[in-house]
Amino acid sequence: MSQTASKKFPNTIYLRDYKEPLYWIDHVNLDFELQAEKTFVKSQLHFRKNENLPSEDQEQSTLILDGEDLILRGLALDGAPLREDRYQVTADHLHVFDLPESGVLEIETEVNPSANTRLEGLYRSSGIFCTQCEAEGFRRITYYLDRPDVMATYRVRMTATQEDCPVLLSNGNLLEEGSNPDGTHWAEWEDPHPKPCYLFALVAGKLEHLEADYTTASGRAVKLRIYVEPGNVERCSYAMDALKRSMRWDEERFGLNYDLDCFNIVAVGDFNMGAMENKGLNIFNSKYILADADTATDADFGFIEAIVAHEYFHNWSGNRVTCRDWFQLSLKEGLTVFRDQEFSADMRSEAVKRIQDVKMLRARQFPEDAGPLAHPIRPESYIEINNFYTATVYEKGAEIIRMLKTLLGWEGFRKGADLYFERHDGQAVTCEDWIRAMEEANGADLSHFRLWYSQSGTPVLMASWTQNPEAGSFEITLSQHTRATPGQTEKRSLQMPVRFGLLNASGQDVLTGQEQDFLILDKASKTFRFENISEAVVPSINRGFSVPVKLEAHHSEADLAFLMAYDSDAFNRWEASQSYLTRVLLKLVEQRKSDVTRDDIPADLIEAFRVNMQDRAIDPAFKALLLTLPALSYVADQMIVADYECLSMVRKGVKDCLAGVLETEWQALYRSAALEESFDPASGHQAGSRALRAVALGYLSGLADGRKLAADLYGDAGNMTDRMAALTAVIDEDCPERQQMLDRFEQRFSDNLLVMDKWLALQAMSQHPAVLDQVEELQQHPAFSWTNPNRVRSLIGAFAMNNPRYFHDLSGRGYRILADAVLKLNDINPQVAARILAPLGTWRRVDTERQGLMKQELERILERENLSRDVYEVASKALGRD
Ligand code: TRP
Ligand code: ZN
Repeated sequence: MSQTASKKFPNTIYLRDYKEPLYWIDHVNLDFELQAEKTFVKSQLHFRKNENLPSEDQEQSTLILDGEDLILRGLALDGAPLREDRYQVTADHLHVFDLPESGVLEIETEVNPSANTRLEGLYRSSGIFCTQCEAEGFRRITYYLDRPDVMATYRVRMTATQEDCPVLLSNGNLLEEGSNPDGTHWAEWEDPHPKPCYLFALVAGKLEHLEADYTTASGRAVKLRIYVEPGNVERCSYAMDALKRSMRWDEERFGLNYDLDCFNIVAVGDFNMGAMENKGLNIFNSKYILADADTATDADFGFIEAIVAHEYFHNWSGNRVTCRDWFQLSLKEGLTVFRDQEFSADMRSEAVKRIQDVKMLRARQFPEDAGPLAHPIRPESYIEINNFYTATVYEKGAEIIRMLKTLLGWEGFRKGADLYFERHDGQAVTCEDWIRAMEEANGADLSHFRLWYSQSGTPVLMASWTQNPEAGSFEITLSQHTRATPGQTEKRSLQMPVRFGLLNASGQDVLTGQEQDFLILDKASKTFRFENISEAVVPSINRGFSVPVKLEAHHSEADLAFLMAYDSDAFNRWEASQSYLTRVLLKLVEQRKSDVTRDDIPADLIEAFRVNMQDRAIDPAFKALLLTLPALSYVADQMIVADYECLSMVRKGVKDCLAGVLETEWQALYRSAALEESFDPASGHQAGSRALRAVALGYLSGLADGRKLAADLYGDAGNMTDRMAALTAVIDEDCPERQQMLDRFEQRFSDNLLVMDKWLALQAMSQHPAVLDQVEELQQHPAFSWTNPNRVRSLIGAFAMNNPRYFHDLSGRGYRILADAVLKLNDINPQVAARILAPLGTWRRVDTERQGLMKQELERILERENLSRDVYEVASKALGRD
């Protein structure tokens, strides 16, 4: 029976209730007989009483194992079958009574992988058996203590037909394999490293692989393999290259080596998230493995590099040292995101990577922190843990790690990390253990810094300054404030390392030769004074986005134009352009300007644009970012009531105006960024040039000539990046070129669903007036499917998250489309249903009429019978009920 069916109001789990288990499990033998509809799982659990617990607990002798959607077929203790009065099966547990201090429990269960559309536990994707156990999927395979502090060694045997499953994989090293006379064959794998069950994995199916050899710095020879569906091996080479570079990087930057004889990656088409770090057997969403010039964009290659690295880095930050409980999730995720960000920065442009990461933090995490689901990076309670794989835990978590690096310097940070990995190897630990290692390795006091782990909400950092030229002094006052968030009304001041500089009129940094380039704000307000500043200076504040805050600095427009051109900190140079443009947009929204003309845009802003456009010394990838208008959602977040309709009109007006005023320059830029060489996914310079060309085309597309240019680019495109640039340029326009390109794209790629995802998403994000009809019609398109999370995210997710103008259409249709999708997915895949639901939780940001429409849809969702825990938690919290 499904446990979600019976409970209307599911339980909340609290961090403060954490207790060690009554029994440990040290070793597990698993034996799978794999069949599509009926898979039999035999498990032998070597258990032992936990001697750490207080004696009153130790008197108990009932082992309570987790289990969901399982059929129990057999149960024995130390070789003898258990009588019925020795155990009890409930909807989500198996209770075994009167256990000895230690022994071996044998359990046989039956599961149905083909019926598993939730994609948690053991399921089939295009005929391939695969597993997803994080966070709590192992309990859908067999009864177990499904919690990360129970760590065991595993030996796994599996049997399947040679015909359907020539490849049989699990964690660790292959021990033995053989075949049976009945057409089946078997393999036995052993993982010598103790691990929690969320890192267990099994894969069986018809797969081909790409292989490479790697030797670690410590001399271990490792076989690397990437397994994919037949026909896809040619599209794995970039992922393999990224894997090798990740392994080398972790040795060089963190001194961490790989620890098994083989490392396997499997790509599957149906997957709830990006990828999973199972020990020695990473399983990936095929979107983050398969790529070639013809089917993947430069952005896709960047994601592949980052995610391959992320999962590989988990081998230490997550697997060798794991989490005690799920409240500690950021311990492994924040740290591993930080590590993959540093890796990507080392591979390409550091500044460009930082800007991309901050854009993503602002687009995903800031709204979360300002909404009904706001939580600290270490949450204190949850109903469904799958709902806490959030931008806060991941991305804000990485920002907290980054601040430690700023505070301690790279060397101090490395000393702390070394101590952490050495001290806790093989353990399941807490965020507190991480901080303590940082403190002890550096003799530092991080007691105030710890508040970042428990306080939610995005702080506002305010800056004001005065300069006294006669006295030669400069004073800056930094203040902070964090608004109340649900369940957390009292906010304290945080410790913030604010990177800072002063620029003179020729753009030189005047504060050189100081010990550190940051100011520490550790109370509500603090004034910093600098002497011997005789020339006029402009402050550059929070360089590199060193603290994850909303900065309110009262730079004049002239200051912003200056910083846009001269800041030596590339991040703040970009930031200045965004701030200036945001101010202009907000002012025009206030005036409700429907026809933006040249006079509406300050001359120095246009001039700064022109200078940046023509400056050949600027890295093209960075230039592309400098010349891009701030995202609609970013600007809307600065309004008291978000008015997406007016804002999108004004933004389009500004874009078309900048296009017209600078048309010659855009044309020149477009032509000069053309490339002669053949496509190289590893070349940052090439990717930058393509990005710059796409930006230029984006501006020009509002003009009639530009549409022709886009059509030409589409026709000539030898790679997916250019093809997508051409399509993106016209997707908002009501012009014949748009449909022609969409049709050509569909004809060419209809048999490649990963590519069709781009086609779906582009249309879902379009500003074309018929977009609502199209999102509904596309749900019937053969390329779409409700059971595949990538398809759902491309059509429904992209629409609700990235098309605020039409999601918030006053007709309420956008809200209805999303709620209908959530209800449908509730029964198919609750994890995905809960995830795409989030945009309905932003109702407090819009006008009262829209608020009513949004709340009505949330109510409709909550009225549904058999609502999953996942959807229930997000919908009820969105209405402010939980
Ligand atoms: N631990 C994975 C990562 O960040 C993410 C993850 C958690 C996941 N739960 C999942 C992936 C469920 C797929 C499905 O690398
Ligand atoms: Zn991760």
